[in-house]
Amino acid sequence: MSKSIQIAVVGSGYVGLVAAVCFAEIGHSVVCVDNDQSKVAALQSGDTLIHENYLPALLQRYRNTKVRFTTDLSEATRASDAIFIAVGTPQSENGDADLSYVESVACEIARSLSSYKVIVEKSTVPVYTNEWICRTIERNGVARSLFDVVSNPEFLREGTAVADFLHPDRIVVGADSEPAAALLARIYAPLTSGAYYSQPDAIPGRCSASAPPHLLLTSAKSAEIVKHASNAFLALKISFINAVSNLCEATGANIEQVARGIGLDSRIGSRFLRPGIGYGGSCFPKDVAAFRSVAEQLGIDFNLLTEVEKINAEQKKRFLAKVRSALWTLRGKRIAVLGLAFKGETNDIRESPAIDLIEMLLAEGCSIVAYDPAAIERAQAELPPSPQLQYAQDAYAAATDVDALLILTDWREFAALDLPRLYTAMRYPVVVDGRNLFDPSTMQQHGFTYISIGRPAVYPARDLELAASAAK
Ligand code: UGA
Repeated sequence: MSKSIQIAVVGSGYVGLVAAVCFAEIGHSVVCVDNDQSKVAALQSGDTLIHENYLPALLQRYRNTKVRFTTDLSEATRASDAIFIAVGTPQSENGDADLSYVESVACEIARSLSSYKVIVEKSTVPVYTNEWICRTIERNGVARSLFDVVSNPEFLREGTAVADFLHPDRIVVGADSEPAAALLARIYAPLTSGAYYSQPDAIPGRCSASAPPHLLLTSAKSAEIVKHASNAFLALKISFINAVSNLCEATGANIEQVARGIGLDSRIGSRFLRPGIGYGGSCFPKDVAAFRSVAEQLGIDFNLLTEVEKINAEQKKRFLAKVRSALWTLRGKRIAVLGLAFKGETNDIRESPAIDLIEMLLAEGCSIVAYDPAAIERAQAELPPSPQLQYAQDAYAAATDVDALLILTDWREFAALDLPRLYTAMRYPVVVDGRNLFDPSTMQQHGFTYISIGRPAVYPARDLELAASAAK
């Protein structure tokens, strides 16, 4: 394996923490910095703070050896060759990314620079951030020869973050200086050379020693745009399929068949064509807004992104209308909600369409019993339990005596529910599925009224038989 490099990662959120342990996994020596003392203490004691496959094992293996946690950014800067900035870039009032954390980290790094360092922006940032970081460091009195700033966007997804990091579709390095590009190439060499994948205990994934990931070298500005454009394009794909699913509903076509038909065109591809209740999470809503705002500031008409956002917001309202159409009136109805997280296999509820829908249902006077395999604790902090909103221990407890059950998150656990048991628990067997987890005919055979996205609704076989015999 290539030579170990001293790396600092600033920020221990999803991207920072995953990057830190994965850099250790590929042989580097890492110090992970966070200004939140309680977070640092938790990480030092082995608590990962986020729900992520492989993360507990990797943290256990490397914490306090190849990965140290500290609040001391100056010390970490001095000890490292490359400093990755992976702090939050939240959305500000006007949709822009708020870059104040990035700026204050750049200032603090500047104060500790006394030998050549490469500063790497890994947070999702708008174009020109690289230039601003350079300018900020120079304004703090550091000679330009003492540092370079590189853009190295991260494309990992929550829930599969570790495998995504170690088995990337591509590694994008936006560097305007040769030594900085060379350092980044050395950092990722265990992946790009394929050496990592030959290790017997390598985390499994799509890359292999014979098919390692490609490192794409670009200008800093191009790399910044690659990140925003990638997320915006994926969000567009989702809004597109949601709009097509509405067309399917209006005509009686089936979105699953249509999406398959579209996705088999290799120019389009089948991924990110799952219809639902709209995209959420800490990235797509924020990044689409930020990209739109960047375009606006540059005087470029990118109204396509406004439409992407509009379709996404509408999708939740359409789902609420489906629930209403299934139940006639909503006030006083008892409803089970399965899923709080913004997608399956994560405990993250940021910008979760499920949370928005619960708020809409509560405003309509429904009482709700919610269940999620991992996100209840976080949801309770945002939506505290009340007589109108209770949290259940499992899906069957949530379904007990309800007028309808709604599926709002695509957890694998939900797709494997015991349908006869669910049927028995519910007062009325009405399921409104915002994630298309079930086959409509299976639901029909099990006696459910089943309403999903972009597919014809089905009614219990028994009801249809009764209707048929009444018509004779
Ligand atoms: C997303 C991108 O997929 C990552 O590549 C990127 O690195 C990350 O944002 C980021 O910028 O940090 P993530 O937010 O973890 O990752 O989640 P996704 O798996 O992309 O899902 C986002 C939302 O889209 C979820 O609400 C999901 O349910 C929804 N979605 C996804 C659909 O409705 N349909 C689909 O076909 C796919």
